[in-house]
Amino acid sequence: MVKITKEQDTEKNYVRMLKVIEEFLKDEKDEIANLSNISAVLNEYIDNINWVGFYILKNGDLVLGPFQGKPACIRIKGNPGNGVCFACVKSGKLINVPDVNAFPGHIACDSATNSEIVAPIYKNGAIYAVLDIDSPVLDRFCEIDEKYIDQVAQAITKWATTP
Ligand code: SME
Repeated sequence: MVKITKEQDTEKNYVRMLKVIEEFLKDEKDEIANLSNISAVLNEYIDNINWVGFYILKNGDLVLGPFQGKPACIRIKGNPGNGVCFACVKSGKLINVPDVNAFPGHIACDSATNSEIVAPIYKNGAIYAVLDIDSPVLDRFCEIDEKYIDQVAQAITKWATTP
């Protein structure tokens, strides 16, 4: 079993977290097993968050996947495609929202959330899921968070795309 040990330094902590995630992805192809463990790993390593998990794109809707935190919206409809998660799907890029209350169409699953970061995950070149992380802290996510959360999404993209 992969050991979870944390570092004080933010970047070192993220580097260690990525290694743990790559270790989990290495030998297993089951989606639920891997995304479940990755959401648990992210929850262990990232401080000051209240929700972390995945929404999987299914027939145009984003459907709740493995996560850690309070129960969340089960299905985010592709029509009209509101919220931060669909903004990420539409742009195809990571979105960092410092204040969700100022984001038009934000979908509040937990009123404690104040900031949110969402990264796209691709499979064979098309968006397959998003990684969503919420925080009760305003402006919680900085450039270092963006860099490594994007790298997590890229590691899952590589795993999802590899036959
Ligand atoms: N806030 C997201 C919805 C998902 S929850 O945060 C878990 C959004 O606006 O798309």
